[in-house]
Amino acid sequence: MRQQELSATLKAYPVWDAVTRWFHWINVLCVLGLLAVGVVILNASTLGVSGDGKLALKTVHVWIGYVFAVNLLWRIVWGFIGNRYARWSAALPAGRGYGRDLVAYLRGVKAGEPPAYRGHNPLGRIMVGALLLLLVNQCVTGLVLAGTDLYFPPFGYWFLDWVGVAGATAEQLAGLKPAQTELLNAEAYAAMRDFRKPFIQLHELGFYALLFAIPLHIAGVVVTELRERNGLVSAMFSGDKVFTGEPRD
Ligand code: HEM
Repeated sequence: MRQQELSATLKAYPVWDAVTRWFHWINVLCVLGLLAVGVVILNASTLGVSGDGKLALKTVHVWIGYVFAVNLLWRIVWGFIGNRYARWSAALPAGRGYGRDLVAYLRGVKAGEPPAYRGHNPLGRIMVGALLLLLVNQCVTGLVLAGTDLYFPPFGYWFLDWVGVAGATAEQLAGLKPAQTELLNAEAYAAMRDFRKPFIQLHELGFYALLFAIPLHIAGVVVTELRERNGLVSAMFSGDKVFTGEPRD
């Protein structure tokens, strides 16, 4: 009987558009792949991986990275042109009234009756902001490393130009493996490796921060799903959330 009453009052609301859902799951797959290959690269010496093996791992990591980067870039653009819940104005922890909404939401959580949101709730927006920042950091630093370590696009030709000896042809340099230093200007190469240092440090730091942020994101989703029961998880597949009353947004 109670179940019948509940289903009679539940109403489905479309929230996540197809682009946002595709972005989310492609991103999950890419990040898992990048984390897995990244862990092996990080521990390559301990695992006894050869130089060529490490090069192959970096190449696979970068190819997954390109899919990750294009997907992320498209989501950033979609944040300006997508539906109202996909927009950055609704997804990031900023904007008019955000502070007030956050206080009201926290009070609601404390009282056991948090206000219902179709899009991200104010706490969720903080998580989105943190994850976005970390993903952009991995993307930018990763693309620079792809250039310094493998001379891969988009910055690879620029780095080759910097470190190649005068007179080396574009063809010679294009086929150059990272460990081959004979066509390199030693001084420029050392300067390039110095330039690279903060990028690898940020890439590694971002990796550890993601290892912390991803479980926090999943825990937040599970706790909110269990407390509010709006179909938060299934909405990332179907696009719809369900509410008994009128959501705030
Ligand atoms: C969620 C995204 C990513 C994660 C978690 C991640 C993680 C990692 C980790 C743990 C390493 C090993 C660091 C080390 O050896 O000290 C690494 C290395 C590397 N990553 Fe990523 N990465 C991500 C995205 C990317 C992207 C988008 C690219 C480029 C398209 C990229 C390019 C590289 C390269 C070239 C290296 C080799 C650096 C080196 O050790 O010499 N990464 N990544």
